[in-house]
Amino acid sequence: MKRKLVFATGNEGKMREIREILKDLDVEILSLKEAGVPADAEENGTTFEENALIKARAAAAHTDAIVLADDSGLEIDYLGGEPGVYSARYLGEDTSYRIKNQNLIDRLAGVPEEKRTARFVCVIAAVLPGGRELTSRGTIEGIIGTEERGEGGFGYDPIFFLPEYGCSTAELTMEQKNEISHRGRALQVMKEKLQRELPLLKEEQA
Ligand code: IMP
Repeated sequence: MKRKLVFATGNEGKMREIREILKDLDVEILSLKEAGVPADAEENGTTFEENALIKARAAAAHTDAIVLADDSGLEIDYLGGEPGVYSARYLGEDTSYRIKNQNLIDRLAGVPEEKRTARFVCVIAAVLPGGRELTSRGTIEGIIGTEERGEGGFGYDPIFFLPEYGCSTAELTMEQKNEISHRGRALQVMKEKLQRELPLLKEEQA
């Protein structure tokens, strides 16, 4: 029987992405719902690493599977790294991204391009059966635009510009974005770590 891997998210888009990137790992990939694991973590950490570990540990308490969780957000240098780990909660969880994005554009009014640098950050945490913990981090560097552009993606994508592509991340196809995104990169690094760890887990079990 294949070893199970649970990804601690309720987000279908993230599940699709993780299934695609981790498809050649020798594991059965399950969502929290499919594994019957409750999503009861309180994201009260102050770093992406802390929050990802909090989510992974909370799920790991309910299952013997390998558990993965992620935490991500947007860091704007001119704003001292805001909204950072508060990206989803910035101006309130239920506030639309139209409003959040316009607010960030307004806070950067008159700031020249070279000072508008920003990055999306994603940290993936893993808790292995037996309790060992791993983390991986991926980033993508960009510039905060002066207006929203593009209909794709989600969240802060319409204001996040990639100068070398001449467009925002909301103007990329999902495949293009997955290839270069913070989450795609963090998942790739985690996949390589798990490829090294899986044979060791099997030996421990034997
Ligand atoms: P998480 O689901 O707790 O990791 O929340 C991350 C938040 O960061 C999201 O709700 C978005 O506001 C923002 N974010 C993370 N990744 C992206 C992205 O790829 N595009 C746009 N916004 C993102």
